[in-house]
Amino acid sequence: MTSMTTDNYAVFGQPIKHSKSPKIHQLFAKQTGQVLDYRAEEVGADIFNTTANYFFAKGGKGLNCTVPLKELAYQFADQLTERAEFAKAVNTLALQKDGSILGDNTDGCGLVTDLTVNHQIKLKNTRLLILGAGGATRGIISPIMQQSPTQLVIANRTIAKAIGLAAEFQSLGDSIKGCGFEGLAGMQFDLILNATSASLSNELPPLPKNLLAENGCCYDLAYGNEPTAFVRWGIENNALKSVDGLGMLVEQAAEAFYIWRGIRPDTQAVINSFSL
Ligand code: ATR
Repeated sequence: MTSMTTDNYAVFGQPIKHSKSPKIHQLFAKQTGQVLDYRAEEVGADIFNTTANYFFAKGGKGLNCTVPLKELAYQFADQLTERAEFAKAVNTLALQKDGSILGDNTDGCGLVTDLTVNHQIKLKNTRLLILGAGGATRGIISPIMQQSPTQLVIANRTIAKAIGLAAEFQSLGDSIKGCGFEGLAGMQFDLILNATSASLSNELPPLPKNLLAENGCCYDLAYGNEPTAFVRWGIENNALKSVDGLGMLVEQAAEAFYIWRGIRPDTQAVINSFSL
């Protein structure tokens, strides 16, 4: 922590070394004239509760929590927003005036803003496929369903997890289905979102041919300095757009910044500063 007068924020996670969040928040702060400090701290699941308690006890104002801490942050929060309750995962903790800690999840809203505003990819009346059924998928189902796609299929290596997630979110619409990758044969989608962690190891789920409809788009929730394996798959399969999740990262950060500071930064300027 820097000083008694600077508001302190941090992102906790493991691994955290390559996190772009400190740079993003420092750019937001500069742009909006806010004085704050934002650090990345390597925190594993075993020490999350004690480290988070210590952080807030020392006057910390807010935390972002990333892999593998989002479920623990959900447990840690005193109150939850509706979207965090739905996701059963928290990526943003905010100290409230009464000293309690609010848990929110800005991932889904960050994704939807990046898709619909930054990339002009519509979700309404589209056939949508999500690859993966882990924490990343859980966080985006509800905000995606709010955009009224005609169909949402969740496909996963472990089929039971996809079916379980689809069942859990059935109240949002009976167009949600879960299956394995083999179950995708013969189906076509207007938008495919990769929410598996396969990209991080440069791997791809086994995807059938002709999965992507004509003029369909691909979006990888992961990002990297080079195009991810899934972004390359999209390009090879003639996607109209095939993009990574850098914009989602900046948009979820902007939403967290808004929760903490009450001011919305200009995200495009920050996205551009990374893409150059
Ligand atoms: P996250 O919070 O990033 O979603 P997670 O909860 O561990 O992380 O989930 C990782 C997801 O990526 C899971 O859906 C996982 O599939 P399983 O449920 O079958 O484990 C998926 N995944 C990871 N590596 C994969 C690979 N090489 N091929 C296909 N799916 C993979």
